Amino acid sequence: LVTECGSFQVIGLGQCCWDRLHLVDRYPAVDEKTEIKQSLEQGGGPVATALVTLSRLGVSCACCGSVGGDPEGGLIRKSLEQEGIDCEDLQMDPTGSSQQATIIVETGSALRTIFWQRGARRPFVVSPDFQQRLCACSILLLDGLDAAAALEAARLARKAGVATVLDGGTLREGSRQLLPFIDHLVVSARFARQYAGSEHPEDALSALAEHGAAAVTVTAGEQGSWSLAGKTRFSQPAFRVDPVDTTGCGDVFHGGYIYGLLQQWSLPRTVRFAAACAALKTRQLGGRSAIPSLRDVFQLEDSGDA
Ligand SMILES: Nc1ncnc2c1ncn2[C@@H]1O[C@H](COP(=O)(O)OP(=O)(O)OP(=O)(O)O)[C@@H](O)[C@H]1O
Ligand SMILES: [Mg+2]
Repeated sequence: LVTECGSFQVIGLGQCCWDRLHLVDRYPAVDEKTEIKQSLEQGGGPVATALVTLSRLGVSCACCGSVGGDPEGGLIRKSLEQEGIDCEDLQMDPTGSSQQATIIVETGSALRTIFWQRGARRPFVVSPDFQQRLCACSILLLDGLDAAAALEAARLARKAGVATVLDGGTLREGSRQLLPFIDHLVVSARFARQYAGSEHPEDALSALAEHGAAAVTVTAGEQGSWSLAGKTRFSQPAFRVDPVDTTGCGDVFHGGYIYGLLQQWSLPRTVRFAAACAALKTRQLGGRSAIPSLRDVFQLEDSGDA
């Protein structure tokens, strides 16, 4: 998947996680018990899973971030390499621990409840090699957990004319400093609420755009998404599917969104494509299990309800 000059179309810098998923009939209340119906372990994390989406769509990607020297670190790396994603800049701290999550998915609603551990390891180091690769790519995707590294990379990308995309899941320390360096801000309803204090996702768009992003989108699960670019404002309903698991819908949406950017599609077309990718992802347990092929996405776009 490496392009002629050894560079990548998309570089992602951010969370690479090891997910342990469990399917239950109903999410229990505190002090209750419930039986696990199905379990699965696989790689996760917003940036990493977005890159898996892109790679399955045929885009060359490199995943940058940090893992620990624990077994999970090795599993995270393998889960990316087997998707054809370059991991040269996935830095391993031998004495550190990896990010991990236990995810409980409820049958019926397909909603996921996440318990996660950040792990403790050396933060990502922006090396001269990384800088060179960054300057040669088309798009940088960030999720901002490692705030200092994300800010440094975003500044470098801006200087090199590389487009930047931020997946804002939770408003974190450092998120605000990052915003002026972001071209495409695609955030969760939670991030929008924390940032703008507004109940409805659409009401946060103008505030989020104040830092100069070319386009802002807020996603809100099965309610779909709302976008703003210049004077264009629109909503995109979620495709109607019978979901098994919504874990990673946002991550896969970002992958689809970046695919649209690379094709230079209009924003409405890009967002609709992203929504179709995310809807198809819900077919199976796990953030990555059912990430679609390009053919599947086009088929849903043609026949689907959204
Ligand atoms: N139940 C669903 N059915 C169809 N599409 C869905 C469903 N849930 C989510 N999506 C699609 O995925 C997009 C992103 O989902 P969501 O807003 O839940 O992401 P998120 O809050 O970032 O969560 P995460 O990153 O943890 O997956 C939605 O805008 C929608 O297009
Ligand atoms: Mg998200």
